[in-house]
Amino acid sequence: MAESVVRVAALADLHCTKTSQGAFQPLFARIAESADILLIAGDLTDYGLPEEAQVLAKELTALRVPVAAVLGNHDMESGKSEDVRKIVSDAGVTMLDGDACELKGVGIAGVKGFGGGFGQRALGPWGETIIKQFVREAVDEALKLEAAFARLRRTASLIALLHYSPVAATVEGEPPEIYPFLGSSRLEEPIGRYPVSLVLHGHAHRGQLQGATKGGVPVYNVSMPLLTRTFADRPPFRVFEVKVGESTQTASPAASPPATMPKPDAAPQLAIVASGGPRRRATDGGGS
Ligand SMILES: [Fe+2]
Ligand SMILES: [Fe+2]
Repeated sequence: MAESVVRVAALADLHCTKTSQGAFQPLFARIAESADILLIAGDLTDYGLPEEAQVLAKELTALRVPVAAVLGNHDMESGKSEDVRKIVSDAGVTMLDGDACELKGVGIAGVKGFGGGFGQRALGPWGETIIKQFVREAVDEALKLEAAFARLRRTASLIALLHYSPVAATVEGEPPEIYPFLGSSRLEEPIGRYPVSLVLHGHAHRGQLQGATKGGVPVYNVSMPLLTRTFADRPPFRVFEVKVGESTQTASPAASPPATMPKPDAAPQLAIVASGGPRRRATDGGGS
């Protein structure tokens, strides 16, 4: 198989509400022009309501490229995450929860992830039962990610799609007190055991754009509020060029979306997206 490049668009934290009709269609149309596939790193909805998912499903009709996504903590809020998952899945999105898929030769392992903190300060399973349960949840998410990677062909370029961060570097900028609720180093472990090209996550609305695992795998925070704030003259998504074919395992940010994109104040989709949740919630860490 000859080597080729797949353009992977990514974003997270859409926080679609019941009143978001029309908010995302121009953005999704733009993504369809700029990329071959789209990956959404969780917080598809604001309160995890089926009605919000139905709005998003309609918005997704503007998207004519294959899409894979994971849920975020907001999608769990109302205890109806299975309904949300099904509605978005019925709209054509491949929903990953410890699963894997291959889109255009790119292997994607997806899991929501969980908190617990990073490095030597990470929460350990000691003491109260509820602390052990908390840690168990993070461990289980890491195991699900590992199982997802195991299902993918080793010849495919591999991407880890998460909502929570596997590293501290991309949550820096958030209040330090909530770092433990923004991700877990336990998610980094399976990433280090597979030839992963790229890690994508959201959740840390005020984090940093880029970091790396201790093994050197690039980690990108693609949270829409962060992208909107950082790239004020571009639409809030990123595009990564991933090589597939004979020699894989490389990825680099593409030359970004076209500079001709309208500025946020002139682009209805940007203005409305910002008001749909992220603007009033600078971060969604800590269960807000
Ligand atoms: Fe979020
Ligand atoms: Fe989140």
